[in-house]
Amino acid sequence: MAIRIEDQNLLFHLQTDHTSYIFQVMENGELGQVYYGKRVHSKSSYDNLTTREWHNASVALSLQQNDFQLQTIKQEYASLGKGDFRYPAYQVTQANGSRITEFKYESYELVDGKRRLAGLPSTFDDDNDDAQTLTISLRDKLLGLVLHLNYTIFPHQDVIIRSAEFQNQGNEKLTLNSAASAQLDLPDADYDFIQFSGAWSRERHMIRTHLRSGVQSISSLRGTSSHQQNPFMMLARPNTDDASGSVFGFNLVYSGNFADQIQVDQYDTSRVIVGINPAEFAWNLKPGDKFQTPEAVLSYTDAGMNQLSQQMGAFYQNHLVNQRFAHEERPTLINNWEATFMDFDENKLLDFAKTAKKLGLEMFVLDDGWFGHRNADNSSLGDWFVNQPKFPSGFDKFANQIHELGLKFGLWFEPEMISIDSELYKEHPDWLINAPGRHASPERRQFVLDMTRPEVVDYLFDAMSKIIDMTKLDYIKWDMNRNITETYSSKLSADDQLEMPHRYILGVYQLYDRLVKAYPDVLFESCSSGGGRFDLGMMYYAPQAWTSDDTDAVERMLIQFGTSYGYPQMMMGAHVSAVPNDQVGRITSLKTRANVAYFGDFGYELDITKMSSEEQQQVKEQTAFYNEHRKLFQFGKFYRIENPFKNGNVMSWEVVSDDKQHAIAARYQILNRPHTGYIRLYIKGLDPDTKYTVNGGSEQFYGDELMNAGLFVSDILHETHGTGQSADFNSKLFVIDAVK
Ligand code: GLA
Repeated sequence: MAIRIEDQNLLFHLQTDHTSYIFQVMENGELGQVYYGKRVHSKSSYDNLTTREWHNASVALSLQQNDFQLQTIKQEYASLGKGDFRYPAYQVTQANGSRITEFKYESYELVDGKRRLAGLPSTFDDDNDDAQTLTISLRDKLLGLVLHLNYTIFPHQDVIIRSAEFQNQGNEKLTLNSAASAQLDLPDADYDFIQFSGAWSRERHMIRTHLRSGVQSISSLRGTSSHQQNPFMMLARPNTDDASGSVFGFNLVYSGNFADQIQVDQYDTSRVIVGINPAEFAWNLKPGDKFQTPEAVLSYTDAGMNQLSQQMGAFYQNHLVNQRFAHEERPTLINNWEATFMDFDENKLLDFAKTAKKLGLEMFVLDDGWFGHRNADNSSLGDWFVNQPKFPSGFDKFANQIHELGLKFGLWFEPEMISIDSELYKEHPDWLINAPGRHASPERRQFVLDMTRPEVVDYLFDAMSKIIDMTKLDYIKWDMNRNITETYSSKLSADDQLEMPHRYILGVYQLYDRLVKAYPDVLFESCSSGGGRFDLGMMYYAPQAWTSDDTDAVERMLIQFGTSYGYPQMMMGAHVSAVPNDQVGRITSLKTRANVAYFGDFGYELDITKMSSEEQQQVKEQTAFYNEHRKLFQFGKFYRIENPFKNGNVMSWEVVSDDKQHAIAARYQILNRPHTGYIRLYIKGLDPDTKYTVNGGSEQFYGDELMNAGLFVSDILHETHGTGQSADFNSKLFVIDAVK
């Protein structure tokens, strides 16, 4: 599989193991999309797919080429203003105010591998996995503006990476008003648009609607990718489900304002555009300047959404996340947040850590409140030095004691923030983001630092480094707890202010990059009030993220199920917290809370010192169970079986080892229903000819039997009857092992 180029027809066929992506230079010198989908044979031309037919009421290329009408033609990176009236992939304003461009094909370059982008998180091919990168160069002669469209194929994961780069080689200043990472024109609109939307504490719920005429989109203008929308989306044929059918996945390696848009036009064709949100964006290109867009990830399969999630997930593991941690089992942890909030001192925490050690946990994470004089959320952000009264014996000594217990030590930071009540604000009030003459709006009683300023990044790097060195830190939870308002940087000229949102996130990336390089063994977990920045840009630096502030088992079922479409379970921080749950007040059993949290990077977030000895014993057993199966839980192939967004009450999912010798499936029930019939669970991904046992039972089952005939699952009511346990919010695990 490779990129094949027909030099005569200037036809480019990007072939992966199971997909084909074909485009061609058109009569007007621009790029036309020919086909993306299941793999087809390579040919020198696909004339039938590029047939031109004259349409009434359509603008033509020229008097001679009357049947070349852009509004009927599928393109790779379209402009507005030459007869295609759909939304364009980019727009450039010129010194004279004109926005008309004509990018004509000039040349291509094909290289092996995939280079990382400078200054932006990006995919890579460090282990030479046969990636190939094709760059098409186009030029607008009048402007001297060069456009590079980059395509990389990762053949074995069926992934294509796209991005664009603009280079001003002319003499006049130009302004990019928009610059998408990718555009894809599809020949029809018979797709379901599947998005993952929500709110704080209710992130990434699956929403599925059929495409209709007009524009449908998901986006963010909050300065982060957001809780409300996630840049991952799918387009699936209406009959596609987890187990079968045709589906495209799109994601963006970006953490700032984004927009994913699908426009269905008058001919029922669909134009997909993904990239930086054009609202609140512009980029000035002086002569000699370049602008590189973030990367878009495109993937396709005809084998259903489980397959899509698996191939995209495997791709991220090998070609996106920090390779230092990509395959390393993540430590089980105890986090003090929901146990103590900011009310703690060193003795309380040490008790906490000692109990954690006794119960088999591996890392103690000290959350918010350890720095400055922070005892409430209105103070000390920015003051990344220790809160002395809470650690009278010294922070280095405290960290030492944690390490001496045989635990790793983790700390919470919120680097991008500033409190008015802080030393930092006294020294640098101008570092706080605000627009001239305006009142800065607080959120969570805090404000945002101007991450576009190099001195802010330097300050944070130095302050954080001191703490990391002093405590020999193993892990950082990097939080970001508010939206950005009054977006303005006093360091940028009036003309450059629309660059601010993108420059902000570039500053964040720079700080991450410097810290990850300086401290390669520190594991980062990103967080943004839980799941507000759960995106591939963050995952490049921090290979896991706090999935949601909502730790209620039932809410988490939905959140983790939704998240699993776009992100593998090794990216999802998942903890057991106390009941009644802090966010929703629900009471669920310790068993169900763990049964949900197992399918991620597992930990506890409650006061283990206050648990009864029976409960502590349960925590010990759960931790031991997780540790025994950790590789499977974190890195196993993930299958969704029963979809709670569809049936409203029941969920099941499963992880399977690569060699198909081990699997763990779990079934969850939200509310009990009386008098149900016999239930079968259809296990996935086993070897059909291998015999398995379930939960150590004596009966043996062939893989094909478990997958096709199913496994009889006792009604939870029968199991809980007479035990005093509720059949609501209950769950069951099935440990499936090949017979030796
Ligand atoms: C955010 C995080 C929580 C916790 C608090 C601390 O809400 O998502 O996990 O760290 O901040 O203030």
